[in-house]
Amino acid sequence: MSKRPVQADNVTMSAGGLYSLATIGAKDVIDQSIPRVLSAIDHIEPQGDEHWSFSDMGCADGGTSLDLWRSVTQHCREKNQNDIQIVYADQARNDFNALVGILHGLTQFKSYLPELPDVHAIESGSSFYQPILPKNSLHLGFSATAMHWLRGSPRNISNHVHMVGAEGEELKAFEQQGREDWATILLQRARELKPGGRLVFINFCRDEQDRYLGNTGGVNMFDNFNANWQSFLSDGVITEQEYQAMTLPQYYNSVDEFSEPLLDKSSEVYKAGLRLESIQTAVVPCPFAEDYKTHGNAEQFAKAYIPTIRSWNESVFAGALSNDRSRQERVEIIEAYYQRYQDQVAAAPAEHGMGYVHAYMTIAKEVG
Ligand SMILES: C[S@@+](CC[C@H](N)C(=O)[O-])C[C@H]1O[C@@H](n2cnc3c(N)ncnc32)[C@H](O)[C@@H]1O
Repeated sequence: MSKRPVQADNVTMSAGGLYSLATIGAKDVIDQSIPRVLSAIDHIEPQGDEHWSFSDMGCADGGTSLDLWRSVTQHCREKNQNDIQIVYADQARNDFNALVGILHGLTQFKSYLPELPDVHAIESGSSFYQPILPKNSLHLGFSATAMHWLRGSPRNISNHVHMVGAEGEELKAFEQQGREDWATILLQRARELKPGGRLVFINFCRDEQDRYLGNTGGVNMFDNFNANWQSFLSDGVITEQEYQAMTLPQYYNSVDEFSEPLLDKSSEVYKAGLRLESIQTAVVPCPFAEDYKTHGNAEQFAKAYIPTIRSWNESVFAGALSNDRSRQERVEIIEAYYQRYQDQVAAAPAEHGMGYVHAYMTIAKEVG
């Protein structure tokens, strides 16, 4: 395995529990996957009285997956009385205070932990590019909306902020990085899964109609991010160097790219025993755009919508601004940027929204 970093710099979600408050759409996506997770558990044979071992990789503050784990713990308890362990893992920069607060009932979120005895939540700062658990110890690994974050950008994109707008050699560099990072994630999980264990991953993708996050009709969200930064560049608000550093270290795999190492018998992943059981794409509409259809208030929509965007890309954009600027100046640029986006949404509400496009997949580790 290469010695590349385990996480790009500057990648953090909104802190203090704001992530889950702002990203109701991510919760909708996880809730939609509950039947898939329960069905995967039904195919796992626990041995004797060993405890159930689960992981939630890229969990952020844990608020969006509370109902998933409530369903899982109840489901397992109907099967047997074995203890249940859920390891919440995220990169070390994650806001673990918010996670602990949400899990242990210090916030407005309703945690499932007090509802059943012998359910243990454990926090881990290990990246999913690293080992998280001991060899052969995991029954089911879960992850939602996290594995599009690469270990780092292979290079800057000269005229866009995201690989969905990259071309030629620049796109090839991201394809290569995406392939390597996906294989690394799978190989790490192959080691820690028990034989017969399962992975349920819900990952951003480019679907069969080339739809992807924020590109499901109307304004293409990533093109809009880019057009706004390019206009800041041409107005002299930011420098070329800052614009270049705004490349988001992400890759959206297609279904074929996700499937390839799990179907190719010569791949290391296949040799490590991982098999693709099923993969399907689905679009979950932007909840803020859906609400707008009911309330019809464009300002209200724009104001509610922008925090969901900020929750995942502000740290990268803000981190690209030069340290030669004062902190105040950087804050003003970032505020002006998101205000511009908010004004655009308020002016043309029917054109905006961040529809979620995911690949839902179940992967098994072969027995014997
Ligand atoms: C959009 S949030 C998803 C949170 C939650 N799973 C959900 O679906 O609502 C993405 C999460 O992935 C985490 N992440 C990014 N790179 C990671 C890595 N290499 N290892 C573990 N977590 C990572 C981020 O810190 C963030 O918490």
